[in-house]
Formats: sequence, structure tokens, C-alpha cells
Amino acid sequence: MKEFKIAPSLLAADFGNLQRDVEMVNQSEADWHHIDIMDGVFVPNISFGMPVLKVISNHATKPLDVHLMIVEPDRYIDKFAELGAQILTVHFEACTHLHRTIQAIKAKGMKAGVALNPHTPVRVLTDIIREIDLVCVMSVNPGYGGQSFIENTYDKVRKLKKLILKKNSDALIEIDGGVNANNAGKLIETGADVLVAGSFVFNSADPRQTIAELSAVSLT
Ligand code: DX5
Ligand code: ZN
Repeated sequence: MKEFKIAPSLLAADFGNLQRDVEMVNQSEADWHHIDIMDGVFVPNISFGMPVLKVISNHATKPLDVHLMIVEPDRYIDKFAELGAQILTVHFEACTHLHRTIQAIKAKGMKAGVALNPHTPVRVLTDIIREIDLVCVMSVNPGYGGQSFIENTYDKVRKLKKLILKKNSDALIEIDGGVNANNAGKLIETGADVLVAGSFVFNSADPRQTIAELSAVSLT
């Protein structure tokens, strides 16, 4: 049995066949649907907003792992809760009052995630790690799918795992960006709990089979 989660990123789905792709994830061995919301301000790209999330939410049968790459995320916490997000992740770099933001997310019954850009050190979470349910380690610069994995991520995962254990935190470690069958095994060994994969899954000939391959990775 695998002890980690797979979260296919719907950013790489075929939006003309969104329902079909959400249903493929439902039927696959994936654990969560990863949903990337980009505002064109925090990151240099716009993905999709509430109406599209609503469609995903209507068809998804697995938890919605919503990754906000937006400024002022506090403004939309209620709305994302209403739309069915189970995990809501904000960027450390976008939150002046991160503690307050995390409390607000939890108050709406969601799990609170914090994402770190590749240049942001793990140590900035020292005093808040016990409040966090998930840390999303960005292994590419956020904004686009299909980028190459940044190798320094392993070092960050090691440091983060140490911090989590030292502080007795329950936070899960999620890796987002450039994940594929070549780095998945090493990421799990290093301490990752959740692997997000977009283009590796959706650009493959058989996405459902690719998810199964990723799920089997630590067993090889
Ligand atoms: C990047 C997004 C990722 C992206 C991953 O800004 O946060 O979730 O969809 O895509 P791949 O797996 O193609 O790098
Ligand atoms: Zn993401």
C-alpha cells in the first residue's frame, strides 16, 4: 500500500473536456484533485476562477486541493469554502499576516496549506509550522505547468521534514512542479507526502495508467 498521496493538477487537463478529465481522476488511483488558481498579479499567468472551480467541484468525488497563487487570498476564503475546497493553500509570499490567514481558513472547516516559492527558505515557517496542515514546496516557479523540476527541492524537503519532526507538527509535505516518474521515488524517500503532477499525467497517452505508475513508484 502506498503511504503517499497523488494529486493530479487539473491545470494540465483539456478544458474542452473538463468533466471527462475530472472523472478520469475520480476513477484513478489519485487521492486529491489539485486545482491551481492564478491571478496574473502574484504570478505572471491567469488560470481560471470560480465558475470553472464550480464545475470541477460538481463532478469531483475526491478532495479538492486548491492552490491559490493570488494576492490578498483572505478576500476569497469564504468563497473557496462554499465551492467545496477541502484544502486551501496560500502562498507565504502573499500573506502579511499568515497566522491570521491560516486561522481564517480553518475557521471555515478547511485544512490550511502554505506554499513556499523556490527562493523562500523553510525556516520562515518555524514559528507557525504547528498551525499548518500542509506545506506545498514549489519545485518550479509558480505560474505555469510543464517546467523543469528544481533539484534544490530535495534539500528543502529534508529541512522541512526535520522542522516538522522537531516541532511535533502534523503538516504534510506536498511537492508541486515538474514531478514525474524519475523524481517521485526520491521525493517520497526524502520525506514528501503528496505529489502534484500536471503535465506528466495529462500529456501522457494514458493519464489513468500514468497515475497508477506514480502510485507504484515507491514500491520499485
Ligand atoms: C505551477 C502549479 C502546478 C502545476 C504543475 O504553478 O502550481 O500545480 O500545475 O504542473 P507540472 O506538473 O506540469 O509541473
Ligand atoms: Zn499547484
